[in-house]
Amino acid sequence: MTIDGVAASGKSSVSSGVARALGIPYLSSGLLYRAATLFALEDHADLSDQGAVLAALGTHPVRLEPLAEGNRVWQNGRDLTPELHSTRVDHGVSAIAVLPGVRAWVNEQLRQVPPPFVAEGRDMGTNVFPHAGAKFYLTASPRVRARRRAQERPEDVDAIEAALIRRDDLDRVQSAPAADAVVIDTGPLDLDGVIGKVLAGVQR
Ligand code: C5P
Repeated sequence: MTIDGVAASGKSSVSSGVARALGIPYLSSGLLYRAATLFALEDHADLSDQGAVLAALGTHPVRLEPLAEGNRVWQNGRDLTPELHSTRVDHGVSAIAVLPGVRAWVNEQLRQVPPPFVAEGRDMGTNVFPHAGAKFYLTASPRVRARRRAQERPEDVDAIEAALIRRDDLDRVQSAPAADAVVIDTGPLDLDGVIGKVLAGVQR
């Protein structure tokens, strides 16, 4: 099963809730793109230079721990997770995500996980798991998403909204609903409402 959607549409929280209700893990592909970005930044790689970015990834083995209550990313004994939602990673991640070699690196790790699971990201239903049994795509207006993010971070809602619009634009190529995905506007719903809609869609 796949849950894709735009930035800050609630994908992680919804995927976690759905996964817990179904008693299966969920996989956050975005966290792997974020880990790739962190490594490239730490190695001072030019984010548009695929060779340099892949060289940085080659020296940093990572492990995605697909916990239903929230995924974690490990580099040997170092838990990278708390660093993956920093503003500098937010700003760099879209540049990294357009590199085909980075997409292959992420997808290879996702495909190693035995099903069943909920895969969450941008292109899970289109490119990575096109044969998934149920597909969902979450949207909401930039303002609604910015307001939700502002409750998690000590940042100005206008600045968050501008950054989200910029990231939507940069991610547009890899972020489109699959033809067979159920599109859910999360704007008028709370978290339990979205989880309920997804579960109803799965059980149809
Ligand atoms: O889901 P999240 O917002 O954490 O993803 C971070 C970034 O990773 C996105 O802005 C996008 O650039 C990239 N991404 C992607 N494909 C995915 C998941 C994430 O390109 N399947």
